[in-house]
Amino acid sequence: MTSGSATLHDACGAGRDADRPDVGEVLPAAAGAKIFAAIGCAACHSIDGTTTGKVGPSLKGIFGSDRALTGDNTVRADREYLRSSILKPTAHVANGFQAAMPSYSGILDAGQIESLIVYLSQLR
Ligand code: HEC
Repeated sequence: MTSGSATLHDACGAGRDADRPDVGEVLPAAAGAKIFAAIGCAACHSIDGTTTGKVGPSLKGIFGSDRALTGDNTVRADREYLRSSILKPTAHVANGFQAAMPSYSGILDAGQIESLIVYLSQLR
């Protein structure tokens, strides 16, 4: 990651939300959002409910929802499901989609995975 200059340190007042954490206090969900964009999840998944131009399902509202899998199975998307989707994507394959997601096992560390799970579970 080379975008060191585009961090919160550059926040100069413009567009700064009142509820945004102070510099140095990056919340896990905010870190998860950054990872989601930086490592390429966003190339295959939207977070707005659409699938146009994406090979994977939208992740909008995923947490707590029932996901249809290939083979007529359904699973409730809890934290474990999200974790396994990231580490062992072929263990459950969303119905109507190819098993085209790479595993991030060995690529993301435990903290990054936790941040992603927190981020994904807050997508509404
Ligand atoms: C090359 C494209 C690609 C990338 C990159 C990718 N995914 Fe996926 N993902 C898919 C596809 C295709 C599926 C559906 C098939 C399956 O369930 O394995 C999927 C499924 C999922 C699911 C389960 C969705 C459901 O409807 O139940 C989650 C959660 C998920 N991905 C999260 C992520 C996260 C987080 C990242 C980044 C760390 C990521 N994906 C990166 C293609 C991708």
